[in-house]
Amino acid sequence: MTTVKERIEDLRNALHQHNHNYYVLNQPEISDKEFDDMMSELQSLEEAHPEFKDENSPSMRVGSDISKNFTQVAHQYPMLSLGNTYSEGEVTDFYERIRKTLNEDFEICCEIKFDGTSISLTYEDGKLVRAVTRGDGEKGDDVTDNVKTIKTIPLKLHGNDYPQSFEIRGEILMPWSVFDELNREREMREEPLLANPRNAASGTLKLQNSSIVASRKLDAYLYYLLGENLPFDGHYENLQAAASWGFKISDTTKKCSTLQEVFDYINYWNIERKNLPVATDGIVLKVNSLRQQRNLGFTAKSPRWAIAYKFQAERALTRLNTVTYQVGRTGAITPVANLEPVQLSGTVVKRASLHNEDIINSLDLHIGDMVYVEKGGEIIPKITGVDMESREFMTGDKVKFITNCPECGSKLIRYEGEAAHYCPNETTCPPQIKGRIEHFISRRAMNIDGLGPETVDKFYQEGLVHNVADLYQLSINDITGLDGKKEKSANKIIAGINQSKNVPFERVIFALGIRFVGETVAKKLAKAFGDIESLENASLETLINVDEIGERIAKSIQVYFGDESNREIIEKLKIAGVQLKQSQEDLAARTDKLAGKSIVISGVFELHSREEYKDMIEKNGGKNVGSISAKTSFILAGDNMGPAKLEKANKLGVPIINENDFLALIS
Ligand code: IVH
Repeated sequence: MTTVKERIEDLRNALHQHNHNYYVLNQPEISDKEFDDMMSELQSLEEAHPEFKDENSPSMRVGSDISKNFTQVAHQYPMLSLGNTYSEGEVTDFYERIRKTLNEDFEICCEIKFDGTSISLTYEDGKLVRAVTRGDGEKGDDVTDNVKTIKTIPLKLHGNDYPQSFEIRGEILMPWSVFDELNREREMREEPLLANPRNAASGTLKLQNSSIVASRKLDAYLYYLLGENLPFDGHYENLQAAASWGFKISDTTKKCSTLQEVFDYINYWNIERKNLPVATDGIVLKVNSLRQQRNLGFTAKSPRWAIAYKFQAERALTRLNTVTYQVGRTGAITPVANLEPVQLSGTVVKRASLHNEDIINSLDLHIGDMVYVEKGGEIIPKITGVDMESREFMTGDKVKFITNCPECGSKLIRYEGEAAHYCPNETTCPPQIKGRIEHFISRRAMNIDGLGPETVDKFYQEGLVHNVADLYQLSINDITGLDGKKEKSANKIIAGINQSKNVPFERVIFALGIRFVGETVAKKLAKAFGDIESLENASLETLINVDEIGERIAKSIQVYFGDESNREIIEKLKIAGVQLKQSQEDLAARTDKLAGKSIVISGVFELHSREEYKDMIEKNGGKNVGSISAKTSFILAGDNMGPAKLEKANKLGVPIINENDFLALIS
């Protein structure tokens, strides 16, 4: 008979393999349903048998929601950068230099230069032990928990011919498809768009909550092995071996033995890269033999055996016709350059974002200027410069940032330390009113079916809706006939509005559209205050005491509730029956027995799972933190607490309590 331990092992091995088949090889062998069934069996067995816990189990990829402050770790080998070249001439120079220095045959491994964020992974005995960002090259942030959520990074290696200990480096990327989807959602919510997948990937990797990281579907390509006992002298051959251990190695990599082959590779990928699912910004050329690499050595900043050839960012020259200004939901003003239409990377560009006043000033823009527009890695084209030579023939005025709102005429303000200008007239500035309603009805907020920006616009124009509370006063009669709407769709809208009365409190807080209050903050506020009155009356100090809420957010909450018209809206929402307090079930379990306590959970438990303890800490007002510091109140320790943690706790005099004592404490 199979023991529980064996069953867990079997499930883990099978799931590791299926993950690899699905994510790396793109060849799933089982259905999603079968995969999910195996995963849930594994999760329940692990929950019931914490003694078999394994940090590298496939179940650990889902990510936990503990807040972690990243620990800095020194790199065993510094993470250097590459010398850049931009022309064929410089590539020839590099090739010739290598030829002269080595004075023997050599091969060049050509690779795509992925435009993401670099990562260093350490494996010991076939298991991922650490993932560290580049940081300053000497030391970086330990982001292991977040990296574990990336499905293409193996937690356990295949086969048995990998070195006992080695490091592998590569690039973490946000695929275009994920990036585009995230930005579509952001656009809906009128949040600033992510500039490019590179920033999105590095930002995601630094998130405190690894379940959000898991949802972002990052990917990773590995391109550099380091260690004492690598199997081959060839870099390319080592990468192929790494592929057999389960790593995702790009199949675009190619070994070349002549300069002409190198150029063919560059020219081919300069075009073809547009069909890759991730962002790229060049080609990396590496001398293939590790022995030859050692002979060539390093300069202080980069290897002499490798170089990056950067693709030219595509650029076009066109005329700046006008600058207009858009007002967003929060009143933020975005200057937009309206251009003479021009072809750029396969699309016609008519507009470019100018971001803010400082950028306009630094470009010294004049209306009528001939400007350079680039796409680079950015989705929104940007103006990178002015062709000063053609300026003499132009007579346009210097672009000066507006002083008043283009929609309502209010005087704009610019907060200290911020680059953006805002229209402060939240109550009667039309795009702000409409924007707030659109945010309120959006999917992640009140999720009102059948309503979209156009209908909201119509309601507003007809004078039916001035604020979010007015939505709850609408009748089928009001809507039928409007914009040709039939009774059936009017019914659907009213049903959607009524359904939104069941949306939980935390999402209602998010839906209100308080500046800087996103979904995570809204959750924290709902938990901490329980109902809208307590939130409304909270002092600045109480607000700041809530986990992850700083002065900026706290002040913004106070400004929101300080506004008479917002309080009226909330009163009306209350009368309409919108959820303005936590549900009874949630409340029943809450106390403040652990208020102000920072608690570290460590080891393996018998009575409850780690997740359950985390939940208990939060429900009782405590804070679960990832690492021990002098501020830690106590450690809730199960069996097998790590020796390093034990030593640190003893050194700092942090008390350690077991699960029975903990349960007594909160009972
Ligand atoms: S090799 C010692 N290969 O480019 C050099 N780097 O400026 C090790 N990158 O930090 C790097 N694709 O983040 C290498 N195929 C590739 C790459 C690559 C992207 C990034 C990497 C590195 C930067 C160098």
